[in-house]
Amino acid sequence: MGNPNYTTHLGMVDILPGDVERWHFIENLIRDTARTFHFKEIRTPILEDTGLIARGIGGDTDIVSKEMFAFERGDDRYVLRPEGTAPAVRAYIQHTLHQRGGSQKLFYIGPMFRAERPQKGRQRQFHQFGAEILGSADALADAETIALMHTLYRRLGVAHITLKLNSVGEPESRKTYREALRDYFRPHFHLLSEISQKRFDTNPMRILDSKEPEDRPLIEGAPLIREYLDADSAAHYRQLQKHLDRLGIPYEEDPYLVRGLDYYTRTAFELTSSDLGAQDALGGGGRYDLLVEELGGPATPAVGFAVGLERLLIVADALNLPLGGEKRLDVYIVTRGDEARKWALKHLRPLRDTGLSASMDLQARSMKAQMKEADREAARFVLLVGDDELASGSVTLRDMDASTEETVHFPEALRRMVGVAEG
Ligand code: HAM
Repeated sequence: MGNPNYTTHLGMVDILPGDVERWHFIENLIRDTARTFHFKEIRTPILEDTGLIARGIGGDTDIVSKEMFAFERGDDRYVLRPEGTAPAVRAYIQHTLHQRGGSQKLFYIGPMFRAERPQKGRQRQFHQFGAEILGSADALADAETIALMHTLYRRLGVAHITLKLNSVGEPESRKTYREALRDYFRPHFHLLSEISQKRFDTNPMRILDSKEPEDRPLIEGAPLIREYLDADSAAHYRQLQKHLDRLGIPYEEDPYLVRGLDYYTRTAFELTSSDLGAQDALGGGGRYDLLVEELGGPATPAVGFAVGLERLLIVADALNLPLGGEKRLDVYIVTRGDEARKWALKHLRPLRDTGLSASMDLQARSMKAQMKEADREAARFVLLVGDDELASGSVTLRDMDASTEETVHFPEALRRMVGVAEG
């Protein structure tokens, strides 16, 4: 029975035994996929400097302007990291990772925090798998990044995914485009939704991202960024498309795709799934060639993505993908009497040292209650130990799957159980 005071816990979610195994499965798959691409894991602190995050993501973005969990302590201002790119870049600069030579290929898995309105697929603490390539301006790096993201879903068996692709160009071309958008929307300003009216001044490109129904017809007639792209960005975008074609990764061009973070240059992409519902973005990313320099590092082009793990699990469940359940227990020692309990405590160690999982009753319960627990934990074997067994130096080994039982010396029981576990 849950405590009624804790029924909705502020958009934060516990991951309980029985569920955590699905997380292990996903995390193992991610680590293994990242390994095959030779990306290396980086772990950065959950708290970051508020100024760094605000500068990195952009003060006018939703994340910075209204979704940060931030606080002060003394003269320092902290924020629970809302994403992993700015922290990875900070670490890259702080530890002069560029001196290691070549491109740095980094990945991370961990909790992120945004004070959004919780709903299915949207939490205030959620988890991302992210990957970043720092040090390459080549469209090959964009293709590798997208390939890593794509491979994860392919290996998981997720179908019905759509990769949306766009280029948001360079700051200069974007400036001209923003003006063109303002010129276009200005005569219709009064028809725009309230949120889009706000964005008109701060960042009119975000109007294109609007889900408000009154904005849709206006957006459809808006000028497209591709008409304003600088020649280098346009060539880069074409290169990337060719690479994706070579890799057999399907994509849809989406000229309205603008991302919710300010650091993007050129490539922007998002992976969506029709199995997700309203929050349909499985992941997203793009190129951020100016961020390293903006945060105080050497000029370093970079590209990356992050995917939401809760959303990945929602899709996996919708498709009934097997993610592995709770692990069964190998051995449960059922004891009768005090001496037997002491014996069991001592013999858990040799069992565990062979790699078997082993457990015993910790509440001095009846043998019946212990057998029940062994069943509940789906124990593969039960060792029954009582005074008689101790006197004769043997134990009763019950094979729960075969429903057989025999009395043997402990070393023999151990040998058999290990044999079955390995077989
Ligand atoms: P983002 O699009 O803000 O990008 O987040 C990436 C993914 O995280 C989303 O597509 C979604 O699956 C998941 N996500 C975001 N917010 C929530 C939430 N409140 N609840 C559940 N899942 C959520 C970034 O964070 C960039 N750092 C990606 C990137 C890396 N760009 C370049 N490198």
